[in-house]
Amino acid sequence: MEKFSIKGGVNLKGEVVISGSKNSSVALLPAALMAGSRVTIENLPDISDIQTLAELLMYLGARVEKNGPGSLTIYPHNLFQWQAPYYLVKKLRASYYLLGSLLSRLGKAVVPLPGGCILGPRPIDQHIKGLTALGARVKVKDGMVTLKAEELKGAEIYLDVVTVGATINIMLAAVKAKGKTIIENAAKEPEIVDLANFLNSMGAEVVGAGTDVIKIYGVKELTGTSHMVIPDRIEAGTYILAAAGTNGEVLVREVIPKHLDAVIAKLREVNANLEVGEDWIRVKGCPHPQPTNIKTYPYPGFPTDLQAPIMPLLIKARGTSIVTENVFEGRFKHVDEIKRMGANIMLEGRSAIIEGGNSLTSAPVKAMDLRAGAALMIAALIADGESIISGIDHIDRGYENIEEKLNQMGAGIKRITCSNEQEAVSR
Ligand code: UD1
Repeated sequence: MEKFSIKGGVNLKGEVVISGSKNSSVALLPAALMAGSRVTIENLPDISDIQTLAELLMYLGARVEKNGPGSLTIYPHNLFQWQAPYYLVKKLRASYYLLGSLLSRLGKAVVPLPGGCILGPRPIDQHIKGLTALGARVKVKDGMVTLKAEELKGAEIYLDVVTVGATINIMLAAVKAKGKTIIENAAKEPEIVDLANFLNSMGAEVVGAGTDVIKIYGVKELTGTSHMVIPDRIEAGTYILAAAGTNGEVLVREVIPKHLDAVIAKLREVNANLEVGEDWIRVKGCPHPQPTNIKTYPYPGFPTDLQAPIMPLLIKARGTSIVTENVFEGRFKHVDEIKRMGANIMLEGRSAIIEGGNSLTSAPVKAMDLRAGAALMIAALIADGESIISGIDHIDRGYENIEEKLNQMGAGIKRITCSNEQEAVSR
């Protein structure tokens, strides 16, 4: 029950170090359950999604030890439970990766349909199709997914849509399946490559991750390993957009700039001044942003996760910008809230038409999902006056110490603890 109070009108200045990738980490932790001995994962972000997953792993029988900041060791030997509890699963969507990992490890899994951000309909038909092709018997009833398989066998699976989640779940279930699995039309996100590297370091044979054909040659066993999570490209993109939006000067450190090619190209089109190094990106102001059109696509396209966070910058740009959301049809929950801050945005189907050039003013607003929350924080940093953002538990799911990182760059953000629920949601 917390809120942020954000003083606007700042130009962010300074530097920020990027944490490990949330979307990688939430796949790596369930994958660790498949190892025959202990697994250490470093550079995990300190966010509530990871705390929830660690709790889930312990509930299932794994021992999880914290070694220091960002480092966990998982002892998966005594896994005894294959039913994940709803009170934990509902907190994060990625809990569905337990389907693939428990099926592979124990030959069975019962996982409630997952929670997470509300981005419109989020079917899991491609997960089910892939797991069924590998030999699992699947039942979806009363909000629970039940999987069973005496033996998993490699298969050729063509995904009807490019999906990160289904690609990962199929990879998890296939690494110990008998024979060869081919995933065609696979997602190519860097987090999938990170997972493949992790699985291969445990003895798996995954080839082609990062392309749209992934081949998996089943192995009998997986061993323990140590792994370092890749930097969070979405967190990095969020700070880059916050810096450009506030016409600030910020050095974003410990990133893989290649993972942000589409974002860097768009920002240059918008007139932001950027310098790119080997593992850093420096934003050197964006005093006169220009309007542009953006279409979100699976990687390497412009990421849907940065569609909301780029809007405040486009609202500042004089002229019309059109943002088209091609990945999640319901992902415009932030628009009504940003409009309350003075933005002029019209929704037409999958597109948001932004008439830019007017200034943002402070307002009490509510974060409806993780990236919408980040977008509202950027809008509040730009706006005149003090804004109050509620619903920040969504933001804490995916951003490590966001207010500290922004305050170190000159933002004035306070976390307010509310004494009751009514106070927390009231504007
Ligand atoms: C992951 C990311 C999320 C990101 C998204 C797209 C994690 C934990 N989350 O989510 O941050 O926004 O990728 O880059 O990594 N679909 C189906 N059937 C399925 C599965 C998906 O139709 O069985 C559709 C979805 O509704 C959506 C599209 O495929 O329209 C892409 O979804 P997907 O890539 O699976 O997203 P997530 O893995 O949930």
